[in-house]
Amino acid sequence: MIVSDFAARKRDGVPISMVTCYDAWSAALIAQTGIDCVLVGDSLAMVVYGHDTTLPADVATMAAHTAAVRRGAPDAFIIGDLPFLSYRRGLGEAVDAAGDLMRAGAQAVKLEGAAGNLETVRHLVESGVPVIGHLGLTPQSVHRLGGFRVQARDDAAAARLLDDARDLERAGCFALVLEAVPSAVAAQVTAALAIPTIGIGAGSRVDGQVLVLQDLLGVTTAFRPRFVRTWLDGATLIREALDAYHRDVVAGTFPDDRESYS
Ligand code: KIV
Repeated sequence: MIVSDFAARKRDGVPISMVTCYDAWSAALIAQTGIDCVLVGDSLAMVVYGHDTTLPADVATMAAHTAAVRRGAPDAFIIGDLPFLSYRRGLGEAVDAAGDLMRAGAQAVKLEGAAGNLETVRHLVESGVPVIGHLGLTPQSVHRLGGFRVQARDDAAAARLLDDARDLERAGCFALVLEAVPSAVAAQVTAALAIPTIGIGAGSRVDGQVLVLQDLLGVTTAFRPRFVRTWLDGATLIREALDAYHRDVVAGTFPDDRESYS
């Protein structure tokens, strides 16, 4: 995938599949599938590091994980998430943050929200950094939003979301993530834009989907939002494998002769 493929996929009506990825081993597995692109999301603060929100992720952490994903999947299209506040201190800081993620191996960056970000998006795009926008539930604003809640439920909020989406498209974003918004709102935004929308909890009338890898593999045991489908009962399979290893160690049946050097 390259940046221009995103608009082409929308024009051709072929949905885009995106999945989050934080490390080299899962990146290598994803690279052996048909998945179109990977997002090194700041959700890693929650999924990998066990925080309650994405706020603790910083640029150095995001760059380290982006580099790991690049090593695992040398040919993948990788989007690096600009973490909390890293693009709000002015154009210079935003350029530095984006530069760190791009040098670590990302081909594009993602940032949350439209208000106060339009000049930054324009500047990054003009500087050679492809940018994806993110509207609806923007987890970096979790405290302002009062929790991880569905957004744009009333007409006024839906109209604001549409305006923001148009502004981000005009500023130069090549795609837009829509998170936790009613399907009808996501469909309206999708119809209004030439750039593709990538939904997460935004229904099916969008141009692509993104999910957290650990959610779709069923390895996350905490709260599972309604929009997540699991294609694997990973938690059960992993627990069973670990218990089997433990039993074999305790029984003295691991390692056997074939697993030992003579
Ligand atoms: O950080 C992340 O994983 C994301 C996706 C949920 C879109 O932003």
